Amino acid sequence: MKEFSYHFSGKETRYYLDAGFADMPPVINRKGCIVITDTNLYQHYAPLLEGWQTIVIPAGEQYKQQSTIDDIIRRLIEMEADRTSFIIGMGGGVVTDIAGYVAGIYLRGVRFALMPTSILAMVDAAIGGKNGIDIGIYKNLVGLIRQPDFILYDYSLLDTLPAEEWVNGFAEVIKHACIKDATLFELLQSKDIAYFKTNKEALGALIERNIHIKSTVVAGDERESGERRLLNFGHTFGHAIENLYQLPHGHAVSIGMVIAAAISQEMTGFSAVSNESLVQLLQQYQLPVQFSFDKAKAFSILKMDKKREKEAMNFILLQSIGEGIVQSIPLTQMESIVMQRL
Ligand SMILES: NC(=O)c1ccc[n+]([C@@H]2O[C@H](COP(=O)([O-])OP(=O)(O)OC[C@H]3O[C@@H](n4cnc5c(N)ncnc54)[C@H](O)[C@@H]3O)[C@@H](O)[C@H]2O)c1
Repeated sequence: MKEFSYHFSGKETRYYLDAGFADMPPVINRKGCIVITDTNLYQHYAPLLEGWQTIVIPAGEQYKQQSTIDDIIRRLIEMEADRTSFIIGMGGGVVTDIAGYVAGIYLRGVRFALMPTSILAMVDAAIGGKNGIDIGIYKNLVGLIRQPDFILYDYSLLDTLPAEEWVNGFAEVIKHACIKDATLFELLQSKDIAYFKTNKEALGALIERNIHIKSTVVAGDERESGERRLLNFGHTFGHAIENLYQLPHGHAVSIGMVIAAAISQEMTGFSAVSNESLVQLLQQYQLPVQFSFDKAKAFSILKMDKKREKEAMNFILLQSIGEGIVQSIPLTQMESIVMQRL
């Protein structure tokens, strides 16, 4: 097991890598702990959860909604959870977003930790303290920023992760490479999913590298007034189409990255060669690079994106591979890009 910490505003979060349930830190009193997980995880890992109070929610993005939060809170009341209770979110990004959100609002906040079980949650969703839910088709419209006490990585849980979820997770890995790490981009070009699936050491190193990329950005700008915005690369268009077409998050982000790279080519001088390398890399990791969608509908959802500031959108573009930038684009220009150029 490997341990380190990151300091966010007023809070230290510990990371336990290559750990297991047995490695839960001693602060965890099993009696006061409540594990939130989903039906898929529970199906595989019920024996592991024996002896833990557990709330099992239905799996899937369509349940990242207020009604699930209400159900969880009712269960917490039945369990007589109080301010000393400790929530552990064990699952993919949907569970980690929900568990963090419930922990933030139940009794105005109880302590919590996360145990990410998908590649996507390990490299991205569990890190940085953004928790929340969708409102209908609007992604992550309600939520809060609140850091967990710790994040525990048990890589053995990935043994049951379905093949399509490996693909999804690599969208966020490629995103990190695009905005921050050209060397990681080159490493990814020389490998594929099968390599990381079968080479545990390389997978551990890859996850750790992504943890550091995201945690460093968040530690420098927790409230997203500057650099943290870069992490939204591919997400503005991605979020606009994700729930509209019920796309997996990684697929939506992949399509969003292709669109953002094409706009970068026009606006920042991002080269055609780099653009082509990105498209090729996404295909190498089995991610979609094309999708036809209702532009007017997508634009109307996009306008509600959290990155909008009055009449402009803070949009993430690439200057080069490994170097993302934030550019404020007027909504009128955004609309003409969507309607005419996509
Ligand atoms: N908070 C953030 O900063 C942040 C960042 C990125 C993404 N997200 C959110 O994360 C979500 C996407 O995360 P996700 O792709 O992990 O989705 P998910 O939680 O829906 O997991 C994907 C599927 O894999 C299953 N699964 C997960 N781990 C498994 C395992 N070890 N074995 C078997 N099945 C397993 C789940 O049950 C689910 O069916 C989206 O809602 C997105 O908005 C949040």
